[in-house]
Amino acid sequence: MRDARVSELSSLDGETVRLRGWLYNARGKGKLLFLLLRDGSGICQCVTSAKAVSEEVFEAAKSLTQESSFEVVGTVKLDERAPGGAELSVQELKVIQIADAYPIGKKEHGPNFLMAHRHLWLRSKKQMALMRIRHRVVQSFRNYLDDDGFFCVDSPIFTPNACEGTSTLFETAYFEDTAYLTQSGQLYAEASAMALGKVYCFGPTFRAEKSKTRRHLTEFWMLEPEIAFADLTQVCDVAEGMIRFTIRQVLKHCAQDLADLEQPAENLEAWDQDWPRLKYDDAAELLIQWKADGVYESDFQPGDDLGAPDETALGKHFGCPVMVTHWPKEVKAFYMKRDPEDESRALGVDIIAPTAGEIVGGAVREEDHDVLLGRIQEHGLPQEAFQWYLDLRKFGSVPHGGFGLGLERTVSWLTGVEHVRECIPFPRTLQRIYP
Ligand code: 4AD
Ligand code: MG
Repeated sequence: MRDARVSELSSLDGETVRLRGWLYNARGKGKLLFLLLRDGSGICQCVTSAKAVSEEVFEAAKSLTQESSFEVVGTVKLDERAPGGAELSVQELKVIQIADAYPIGKKEHGPNFLMAHRHLWLRSKKQMALMRIRHRVVQSFRNYLDDDGFFCVDSPIFTPNACEGTSTLFETAYFEDTAYLTQSGQLYAEASAMALGKVYCFGPTFRAEKSKTRRHLTEFWMLEPEIAFADLTQVCDVAEGMIRFTIRQVLKHCAQDLADLEQPAENLEAWDQDWPRLKYDDAAELLIQWKADGVYESDFQPGDDLGAPDETALGKHFGCPVMVTHWPKEVKAFYMKRDPEDESRALGVDIIAPTAGEIVGGAVREEDHDVLLGRIQEHGLPQEAFQWYLDLRKFGSVPHGGFGLGLERTVSWLTGVEHVRECIPFPRTLQRIYP
């Protein structure tokens, strides 16, 4: 007898194993009980027959309430009709704890109730599927970059300065001083890239965003590759290559999870094609045309940043992510290099995904010391706090670039789950910090 996880059962036909988990659901008719055991790797139907087990075991099985913890020993039987392709014929069963009346049941609950019970809601089928896909997405990003010669060098969370503008900084006491929670690890990743060439950092980032949209969290995870000697095309290539690799990994490893989320595999397959790359001006022209044709509504004007309706319109039109480059400098951050052919444009790229909007923001960085210093002054940023960042331009400065990918937006796009708050285990938003 060995311990097994539900996900392994399809290769253990005929073997006797022990499963440990929680009661997801139960059905029974007379002398036959069907217990759905979940152990995080999957859900297995455990068939308990009064004839095959002692009276004590059968009574114990009958006493299980939703989310009670228990273990069973039984024989694995492959069965195509069973969820997961295998079921267990139970011989022994031991109750670990009988759960109190479980607050989350079959009936529809509102989002506020579910968010307030997030610690329990995570056990629901869709939420488990989402967390497994999130895990797979992170694993695939890392595998892709690691195989491509990147080093993971993490950036700090306490920082003395802003990266993405001062309006969304969380301030915190830092002994006798003030610190800010990082909005992006980029500036430090640039320093790391000057040490190790190709790096990425991956960690939580913080924005005091007052927006209550389905795309905004105050704490979210960002993956940020940074590449010495890269130009805008290379930045785009790495982002597209990494995300398309991840799409294929999710298709390969998460078929059941996608099914639980009712996300057709065909959607993901369609996104694994060459992504259109267009300049901001061309995107703007399309949007203005669509507005005139009544395809969608927006107050977008050329020169504006894209809003949610504009991103949605672009995503819908192309049916796969699009990379928008060469942005008006006014809507982009201080560190972006200007297009030498048109100084009014910044060499930035946003990747706009269907339904989820912007999932990636990236750029070539300004590498000239004096130009960068001028930008810092123009933006009214404190020069002392950026001294170290300016230093990078004094000691072997090279062209370089990178991007930041928002993990929750990416997961929400890939899974077809509308709201980013379901794509992180414990979301932090304007209204919520509990549980
Ligand atoms: O476009 P952003 O602001 O870019 C940066 O922070 C760069 N410094 C990154 C870099 O070049 N290394 O943010 C990057 C991504 C967005 O495209 C979006 O996916 C995500 O981070 N993001 C958010 N996700 C959830 N909630 C929020 N409030 C987010 N703000 C940005
Ligand atoms: Mg952005």
